[in-house]
Amino acid sequence: MNKTVLAAIIVVIAMLGFTYVAVGMAGGMGGEGDWVNKLAVLGAVVLVIVTSFVNWDGIGEYKNELPFGWAVIFLGLTIWAIWYFLAGYPVNAYSQIGEYNEAVAAHDAKFEAEHANMDEETLKEMGGSIFIVQCAPCHGLQADGIDGKAANLNARLEEKTIKDVINKGSNNQLLGMEMPMPDRNGLMNANTGALVTDAEIDAVAKYVAGGMKGTEGADVFAGTCAACHGADGKGVDMVGPSIAEFNPTLVANVLKHGKKGAIGAMPAFNNLTEAQVKALGAYVTSLSK
Ligand code: HEC
Ligand code: HEC
Repeated sequence: MNKTVLAAIIVVIAMLGFTYVAVGMAGGMGGEGDWVNKLAVLGAVVLVIVTSFVNWDGIGEYKNELPFGWAVIFLGLTIWAIWYFLAGYPVNAYSQIGEYNEAVAAHDAKFEAEHANMDEETLKEMGGSIFIVQCAPCHGLQADGIDGKAANLNARLEEKTIKDVINKGSNNQLLGMEMPMPDRNGLMNANTGALVTDAEIDAVAKYVAGGMKGTEGADVFAGTCAACHGADGKGVDMVGPSIAEFNPTLVANVLKHGKKGAIGAMPAFNNLTEAQVKALGAYVTSLSK
């Protein structure tokens, strides 16, 4: 057995082993095993053994140098074929899907350029028309949430939602990243030095839902919530979102990540352009002002 044959056997055994693992047919690999694959591998093993060790009545390989021209053409064609497959026709060829994608991308770029510097009024107007199409089916034409089907966007937060968030915490990437709010077992009232009580939760939920006016619940807010949401509830960068009012960044984060809460589940909207997200942000923010 010469070196080439030995190397070939090693390669074949490695490939068989790889197939064996990749197909996961070993019983211990979680798969039930597939006897057709087992037969194929067994057949391959037998073939390797037979070709390596059987002496075919003296019939052997007749070794000739390859003619130089033939070898050059063979090598050249091999390299050309690799280029042709990867960079030439099959991969980079014209396709209708490619043309469609290019046309859509060009249109989006034109749309973005055209709407790059819209003033507040135009943004709101554009946001309003997108809202009618994309958002009104759930939020209603008046954005009132259609009797609790979706969030009422004419007010920042409802009491029910605030209580639910305090009790269960929240993990909706409202800050645009993974930064959950702890549940009530992680909410200490600094004024009392104890965890928030039911009565305090009722009071602070009313206070926040009512637009943070009056005195009832204000002390709980200052002691428990202000550290993360700011003394005015308008949020602290990278720490807590605004719970006093909507702002375009908050709306953009809800659109990007979707939202699950006491009211229901809102899907993410990833097919909107940057200008459309900005427009919706301006529109939703204007609703509760
Ligand atoms: C440790 C910081 C921290 C404290 C303390 C905290 N929050 Fe939060 N809160 C957050 C973060 C962060 C989020 C955003 C969570 C997310 O991405 O879903 C949040 C989200 C919320 C939301 C959800 C807003 C929405 O649009 O759904 C409400 C409501 C809320 N907080 C109310 C409160 C109230 C009321 C208190 C005080 C009782 C409080 N939070 C205390 C960090 C905090
Ligand atoms: C399939 C129904 C559905 C559609 C469509 C939908 N939403 Fe929502 N949206 C909801 C639900 C349900 C909630 C409340 C989630 C929760 O329980 O906090 C919500 C919440 C929100 C919030 C967060 C309110 C808060 O208090 O934090 C914003 C902002 C919002 N939607 C904006 C939009 C915009 C803008 C669109 C259109 C691009 C839209 N939604 C489309 C169902 C929907």
